[in-house]
Amino acid sequence: MRAQPLQKSRVNRYRIAAIPGDGIGNEVIPAGVEVLQALATKESFGVEFETLDWSSRRYLETGAYIPDGGLEKLKTFDAIFFGAVGSPEVPDHISLWGLRLPICQGFDQYANVRPARVLPGIASPLGASGKDIDWVIIRENTEGEYSGSGGRVHRGLPEEIATETSVFTRVGVERVHRFAFELARQRPRRQLTLVTKSNAQRHGMVLWDEIFYEVAAKYPDVKTDRVLVDAVTTRMVLKPATLDTIVASNLHADILSDLAAALSGSLGIAPTANLNPERRFPSMFEPIHGSAFDIAGQGIANPVATFWTASMMLEHLGEPKAASRLMRAIEAVTAEGVHTPDLGGVHDTKAVTRAVLRSLGS
Ligand code: IPM
Ligand code: MG
Repeated sequence: MRAQPLQKSRVNRYRIAAIPGDGIGNEVIPAGVEVLQALATKESFGVEFETLDWSSRRYLETGAYIPDGGLEKLKTFDAIFFGAVGSPEVPDHISLWGLRLPICQGFDQYANVRPARVLPGIASPLGASGKDIDWVIIRENTEGEYSGSGGRVHRGLPEEIATETSVFTRVGVERVHRFAFELARQRPRRQLTLVTKSNAQRHGMVLWDEIFYEVAAKYPDVKTDRVLVDAVTTRMVLKPATLDTIVASNLHADILSDLAAALSGSLGIAPTANLNPERRFPSMFEPIHGSAFDIAGQGIANPVATFWTASMMLEHLGEPKAASRLMRAIEAVTAEGVHTPDLGGVHDTKAVTRAVLRSLGS
C-alpha cells in the first residue's frame, strides 16, 4: 500500500504572551487562559501561552518591569494578553511608564478600541434606557496628553514649575480618525461622533477637528457629528441612543470609557484592545479595570472583562467564529445571574469561569 502523503495541518496556531501583571490581573488572566485553551480544542485552533512575570513585584526586586531585551522578545508573539499594572508600593506614574506605555507606544498600538454594552442579566444605573448603550469608543493611544512631554524644574522651591505638554501630530490624528471611520462603517448605524475640546484647547484640538472633516470627506456613507467632551458626558447619561461610535484623544477617551463602563453595569466587564492595525507589531488585549488592590487575593474579581477581551483577541487573530462563540457563552452566563460582587452577585471568579466553560460545552 502506498503511503499517504502527509496532510499539511490547516490548524492555525497562535503564540500568546500572557502578562498578568499586578493585583487581580493574576486572578483574571489565568481564568482567561483556561477558557481560551478550552475553546481552542472545540474550535480547532492551537494556542500556546507563555506567561511573563513583568509586574511591580519584579520592579521592586530587580529595578525593572521589563527585563533587558524583553520588548524584542515580546515582538515575536501573535498577541499580548495583559492583566493590569499598578501597586500600592510603586507610584502610579512609575508603574504606568514602566510597563504599559512602553508596550502601547513602542508597538505603535495607536487604536484603542473600547466597546460598551449592557450584557444580558446586568443592570445599568440608567435603568431601562441602559439597553440603548451600544457604543464603541476609539481612543488615540500613543500621543496627545500621554506623550510624556514636559518636565519639572526648581523642585520644592516656591518658584517650582511643571509642564505637561500634549503632543498631537498630523500623522497620529489622521490615522486614528481613519481607523474610526473604517470601524464606524462596519457598524449598522454608521455613525461617528468626534469628541474634542476645541473651544478651550485651541491648537491640538482644533487640529483634531480639521483633520476629522478632511478624513470624513472620504467616508460619505458615515454620518458624523461633533460634541465637546464635557457635553458628551451628559449625552451619554441622558440620551445614550444618540451615540454609536466615538473617537477622542487619549485622555478624553480614557475618562469617557470609565463612564461608559459604569453605565454598562460595572468596570468589571469592560474590555479593551490596543491595536496596531497594520500588524507590524503584536496588539495587546486587556480588561480596563486595573489591578484593584482593594479586592486582590480574595478570588472575587470579575473575569468577564478578560473573557470579553479574549473574544476581541480572537477576532483580531482571525478566528471570528470562536470569538462569537465565546461572546455567546459569556452572555449566557451573565443572563443566568452568575455574577461577582461588583455586579451585586455572590459568585467568585472560579464560579463564573466554570459557568463560562460549561456554557462553551466543556
Ligand atoms: C486605562 C487606565 C490607564 C490609563 C491607567 C491604568 C494609567 O485607566 O487603560 O484606561 O489611563 O490609560
Ligand atoms: Mg482608564
